[in-house]
This record gives sequence, structure tokens and C-alpha cells, in this order.
Amino acid sequence: MEREKITLTGAPETMLATLYGRALDSRRPNSVLHDAAAVQAVSRIDYDFRKTRMTGTSAVGVAIRAKVLDDWTREFLAAYPAAVVLHLACGLDTRVQRIAPAATVRWVDLDYPDVVALREKLVSPPSGDYHLVGASVTSDSWLSDVPNDRPTVAVFEGLSMYLHKEDGKRLIERITNRFPTGQLLFDVYGTTGIKLQKLVPAVRNAGATLHWGLDDPAEVEGWHPGLKCLDALRSVDMPGLENLPLSGRLGLKVIAKIPGLRDAGRILRYRF
Ligand SMILES: C[S@@+](CC[C@H](N)C(=O)[O-])C[C@H]1O[C@@H](n2cnc3c(N)ncnc32)[C@H](O)[C@@H]1O
Repeated sequence: MEREKITLTGAPETMLATLYGRALDSRRPNSVLHDAAAVQAVSRIDYDFRKTRMTGTSAVGVAIRAKVLDDWTREFLAAYPAAVVLHLACGLDTRVQRIAPAATVRWVDLDYPDVVALREKLVSPPSGDYHLVGASVTSDSWLSDVPNDRPTVAVFEGLSMYLHKEDGKRLIERITNRFPTGQLLFDVYGTTGIKLQKLVPAVRNAGATLHWGLDDPAEVEGWHPGLKCLDALRSVDMPGLENLPLSGRLGLKVIAKIPGLRDAGRILRYRF
């Protein structure tokens, strides 16, 4: 089988690191995610994945973060079985395959057009009410194409830090203004994490730049009336970290004691 050569650079290239992390985790006997579609996608890509510098610890960390967001999405869909899911900056994340939503759910996967073109070649679309959209999250057109009569959950993993704060704020305002009710599920870097971005191999090696750091989750609540932070989970406190290799667990224990570093990454859940 001919494998797909990768020509992406910058932020789009970083999705290969997270994909590879999920695939590495899924090849472990005690996998967190069991993401067979990620393993399959990696096998179809012609790319030197050593460039991502994924380690056992970072791969399991990526998988645990994905699982938190998967579980929160599942909880939303259990409460609202006919919801809309906006999975923004989807990259090659096979979240829709892992969650396998009911036919009543409308699922929108969105990323830049060149990422979507690659995804079309590498990942089989699920059956059901599924839509793959090529656009920047900062453009206006894609959102007005999504019907706004249903509860909507927007999941965006590994996106906020690539946006400038004003674009992140505008995205959140546009989503919360458009849909009647819903949730926002996303991860953020703190400002210390943004300052230390050169230490993140996948970002450095792709030549990407991180911009937006958020230290106070309450700040976002001010961006729409009724927006309320339900969870602000530090990366060092994620459930399932006991699955990390010993060296990773010890490293996290140290980080968890250092102010600034402790808050370098968070996963957030808001309702509106
Ligand atoms: C670190 S990757 C994360 C991908 C995926 N969420 C995952 O966890 O594997 C960052 C992703 O953000 C996407 N991205 C960055 N800025 C974007 C924008 N303005 N509009 C759409 N996608 C964007 C990139 O193309 C890339 O797929």
C-alpha cells in the first residue's frame, strides 16, 4: 500500500505528534484509549515519527487527556442524545470512531482544508450524520452552516494555544451566541506553559508558535452571560496518571509542587 507523504508544517504538523501518541498508547497492553483507528492511520503515513519525540510518558499523557475529553463528550451525549458535536481542530483524531455516537447525533469534524484533505485519505468516515469541514475556526462561514436548534458541545483539543487570545475569545463568543445551550470542552496552556513552549518537542520541531495562555478559567465566564466553568482539571491531576511509566510519575510529582509549572496545562469544561 502506498503511504501518504506529509508536507504539512507548523500547527497542522503537530497533529501528527498527538496522533502518534494515541497510536503508541493503543499498542500498549494496558492501553488507555484502545484507538485502533489511530494505529491504522499511522501505518498509512510516510513520516519520520521520531521527529515528534513522543516518549512512553508523553504518549500516555496525550491518551489520558483525550480520554478526559471523550468521557465529558459522552456525558453530554448521554444527557442530550440528539445533540450537535463540534469537534474543532480535529486533525487526525479519531474521536468520532472512539465515541461511536448514536445516529441522532450530528457530528462535525473541522480543521484547515489541507488537514481535512489528508484526513479524507487516511481515516474512513463513520456512518450517520457526519460532516467533515475544511476551514479555519477563525472564519465566519462554517458556523452559520451548522443548524442552531439543538444543544451543542464544542470539543477542541490542542487548539486554544495556537490561537491568539482575541481569536479564542471570538470563537467562544460565536459558539455561545449561536446555540441555545451546550458545553465547551478544551485544553489550555497557562502563561508559564506559553513561556516554556520551546521545551515542547512537537511544537519546536514543527516550527509552530503558541500564543494564548489562560491562567484563570473564571476569565472566560465573563465572555457570555450564563457561561459557567464546571471543571478546571490541571494536567498534573488528570485521572489515570497511574498508567504513566515510573519516570513520568516521578516527574509529575515534582512538577505538581512548583507553582506556575503546576498550572502549565489544564482541561476545562464550561456550560452555557
Ligand atoms: C496539536 S494539533 C491537535 C489535533 C487534534 N485535536 C489532536 O488532538 O490530535 C493542532 C491542530 O489545530 C489545528 N488548527 C490550528 N489552528 C487552527 C485554525 N485556526 N483553524 C482550524 N484548525 C486549526 C491544526 O491544523 C492541528 O490539526
